[in-house]
Amino acid sequence: MCGIIGYIGNENAVPIILDGLKRLEYRGYDSSGIAVMNEDGFDVVKQKGRLSALEELVTRSSVKGFMGIGHTRWATHGEPSDINSHPHLGSQNKVAIVHNGIIENYRQIKERLEQKGIEFVSQTDSEVIAQLAEYYHAGDIVETVIRTANALEGSYALGIMCLDEPDKLIAIKKDNPLIIGVAEHGNFIASDVPAVLAHTNKVYYLNDKEIAILTKTGVEFYNMDREPIHKEPEIITWSLKSAEKGGYEHFMLKEIMEQPKVLKDTIQSAAGDGDNRRIIESLDISKFNRIVITACGSAYNAGMVGRYVFERLCRIPVEVELASEFRYKDPIVDYNTLVIIISQSGETADSIAAMREARRRGAVTLSIVNVIGSTIAKETDYTLYTMAGPEIAVATTKAFSAQLALLYILAVAFAKKLNRISDEEEGRLLSEIASLPDKAAEMLEKFDAIQKYAVTCVGCKSIFFIGRNIDYAIAMEGSLKLKEISYIHSEAYAGGELKHGTISLIEENTLVVAISCCEGLYEKIYSNVEQVISRGAKVLFIGNCIKAVPGEKLEIIELPKINEMFASSLSVIYLQLFSYYVAANKGLDIALIIESMHRTYEKQIFP
Ligand code: F6R
Repeated sequence: MCGIIGYIGNENAVPIILDGLKRLEYRGYDSSGIAVMNEDGFDVVKQKGRLSALEELVTRSSVKGFMGIGHTRWATHGEPSDINSHPHLGSQNKVAIVHNGIIENYRQIKERLEQKGIEFVSQTDSEVIAQLAEYYHAGDIVETVIRTANALEGSYALGIMCLDEPDKLIAIKKDNPLIIGVAEHGNFIASDVPAVLAHTNKVYYLNDKEIAILTKTGVEFYNMDREPIHKEPEIITWSLKSAEKGGYEHFMLKEIMEQPKVLKDTIQSAAGDGDNRRIIESLDISKFNRIVITACGSAYNAGMVGRYVFERLCRIPVEVELASEFRYKDPIVDYNTLVIIISQSGETADSIAAMREARRRGAVTLSIVNVIGSTIAKETDYTLYTMAGPEIAVATTKAFSAQLALLYILAVAFAKKLNRISDEEEGRLLSEIASLPDKAAEMLEKFDAIQKYAVTCVGCKSIFFIGRNIDYAIAMEGSLKLKEISYIHSEAYAGGELKHGTISLIEENTLVVAISCCEGLYEKIYSNVEQVISRGAKVLFIGNCIKAVPGEKLEIIELPKINEMFASSLSVIYLQLFSYYVAANKGLDIALIIESMHRTYEKQIFP
């Protein structure tokens, strides 16, 4: 996820673009840049780091112009650096672009253009767009954009300027958002409404493969056959503040809602033709006799889910270790061990220390990380990236889901390499995984039952989460999420463990959240549900194989059917929403608005 903005009008584009970028910073903040067109060509200022650094640089320069594009980046290809920042130019400096998305066939395009003598300067997938557009350009920019878009595979939202057309700003998109804003003094393109709301509330939403040609005084739309299309503008009624969160009250809810897209991108990159696939293919799993997964907090819980899936599919022993404990336990790892480090930020001090300890002992390390160029990503032997985009909320949601998706795909790939599953079985499992984004979207369209139930739980003093097998692993995540943001005491238990002591804490109206997606264990978990109800507990029973009927003490919420190995990706969505609505209804805004950038800083300073 990145943020893009463009302006053409009667005013100086520079302050307008900088202000728009500030409002898009939640979409990416590892680097940023701006390009404006003037009589001599493009003025480009771009650099690694937070937007404030760019602002300072631009203020010191004399950059000025009536048309420009800006970008705030969250790296997906090529680490954050000045060179990899956008905008990107073709090598003849005739075309400038900003891009949000992932170009899957960029390697092929790059190779083709390099063979024709075109020199690339960055490691990004985005630069190929500028180079290709310049290569195709024969005087007619619309034709150039159509040819370029036809050659691209993947997702894109693009802002394009061409020196030959100094009075046109061009936009096109596929699978990534782009809006066109229309103001008195000029016209805009932007990734999201907040970037333009200070100037106008009149916007057009661009559909896939629609082209917008903006001039100072108007905007025209075309399809890929160059036929003009008519679009109706929409009037935005949100305030600027709520618009930044896409109309959601908190980033946490926005990020929960983004999960179908994040799942889709992550699955595509690892099971389709993305960079993650190439890394997975290059790993020789046959040389490992053990896998150790190490991580902290939610990332550790993702590892717990992953362990069940790896062991079931690959029949390799897997241990999951808390990264904060790993280096103190004289860990048994060597060159026959694959150590998987999971981290959203890639900067958690304990996870870094665990990774270094594993490397010191000769283990092969593979990381599952969200932040490109982070310490863990750089120092591990293999790195898989979760395609979650920046996670702003303190409580991880979408990055956790992306971690699970990568662990599933890795487990299937390893099982296939080890001949534990047939081609058909591999195909069946991958198509189950591929169904996750749609099933997640379906759940996020009708979540009123979980929302209503959460409202009734705000007064709870203590909440227990139970499950068995993989459902136990995801119960741990449900419990962590709840205590983290609602400040309610909570514990997760394997259902069968309750009777060994903890059951004495279950009393009249204690809330127990039970999860049931492991069909073969349904009767077992149901008997735990009956036990706690008989002690007076109320139970929220979430699953996709539940046969019980709801009652005074038993609320049931159904999940879509899916292979039970991957069902945690669905149950976690309702567990996240449950925590969110309990916290929101307790009025705990503080917990919900803390940003994870601060959290990462604290984790580094106070490991
Ligand atoms: C919980 C949460 C934390 C992180 C943990 C690890 O919602 O966000 O438990 O999962 O601090 O952080 P990363 O993944 O950045 O290493």
